[in-house]
Amino acid sequence: MKILVTGGAGFIGSNFIYHVLENHQNDEVVCLDALTYAGSLSTLQKALEVERFRFVKGDITDMELVDKLFREEKFDVVVNFAAESHVDRSILNPDVFLKTNILGTQVLMDASRKYDVKRYHQVSTDEVYGDLPLDRPDLFFTEETPIHTSSPYSASKAAADLLVQAYHRTYGLPVTISRCSNNYGPYHFPEKLIPLIISKALRDEKLPVYGTGENVRDWLYVEDHCEAIDLIIRKGKVGEVYNIGGHNEKTNLEVVKTILKELDKPESLIEFVKDRAGHDMRYAIDPAKISRELSWEPHTTFEEGIKITIKWYLDHKYWWENILSGEYQKDYERLYGDKY
Ligand code: NAD
Ligand code: DAU
Repeated sequence: MKILVTGGAGFIGSNFIYHVLENHQNDEVVCLDALTYAGSLSTLQKALEVERFRFVKGDITDMELVDKLFREEKFDVVVNFAAESHVDRSILNPDVFLKTNILGTQVLMDASRKYDVKRYHQVSTDEVYGDLPLDRPDLFFTEETPIHTSSPYSASKAAADLLVQAYHRTYGLPVTISRCSNNYGPYHFPEKLIPLIISKALRDEKLPVYGTGENVRDWLYVEDHCEAIDLIIRKGKVGEVYNIGGHNEKTNLEVVKTILKELDKPESLIEFVKDRAGHDMRYAIDPAKISRELSWEPHTTFEEGIKITIKWYLDHKYWWENILSGEYQKDYERLYGDKY
């Protein structure tokens, strides 16, 4: 089948593209990505060598471009990863979050309707459920947990989810939604906690921990997320929401200390800084539905995954140093400059 992956030059989208190209030899993949600050074409270098893969630079909110692409390519499946994804940035500048995350979703769904896409999959987040208290470890997010958002980012993702459900009910668009917990692994942009701490610790810089560091996140190795989405688009039931998570709850301080230990760096690098506004306390996913209905199980524990991730950042210094220096933003010109 032919799959459109939006946001595929980012963290999870790129891992998903590699997953599909490796596991489904007959699938063709087109990536549509605007190459915002969060997208790096060097991330897709190996995919660009595969004939069944094509990269298109473009914005999901650009109706004309999206319409032309859908008309030409006749996609079977659309997987929408494209989003502004960083909570801190949404607090500073909500505008682009509303535009990309909500209006971009609408543009993609309108084209999916017009060109009879067989499945539109929305990659959503557990943040749409708000947060859980630290003193109730018995509570988890299920698919029935009410939407209750905290940041402009999570509000924009929740708005998109509601729109996806409305397009299913009103127009019969064949949709699925997945809501995953925090991912980590290769190609994670070094503004997010785990890659930020690894890249700073390697340079012996201070490590900013918000508030007291007691906030809990439920970490999932990115390949497990990709496998879950792959299952949902092929076997998931139209109209359904699937939560994805692997019961790997850790406080931020535990995560930072684990990384420091692995890198043999001192805890004195930790610096407690001003807390994030509206900071969610705890995320914890109940993945029973996807496990029961699609037999999905995560393969990587946090203890294994964090070791693999740290090794990847050590082996791929050029990737994140290229990002920190800003050089990566010239990659598109370098690769495609002569062609267009
Ligand atoms: P990311 O920020 O690493 O990547 C986003 C990608 O989207 C980038 O390549 C960027 O260039 C592209 N993009 C942004 N705006 C665009 C636009 N208007 N048009 C086309 N492309 C655009 O994000 P990520 O962490 O890989 O997250 C991917 C998706 O998964 C997001 O929808 C996010 O909400 C969701 N999600 C992320 C996590 C996580 O832990 N990172 C967990 C659950 C869900
Ligand atoms: O739960 C899924 C979500 O996970 C996704 O929807 C988001 O796109 C993704 O960015 C992530 O959101 P978080 O806000 O949980 O991730 P982040 O890496 O920004 O922060 C993780 C925790 O670490 C959070 O409690 C804030 C804290 N933190 C973060 C940074 C960047 C720090 O203490 N210091 C930091 O410098």
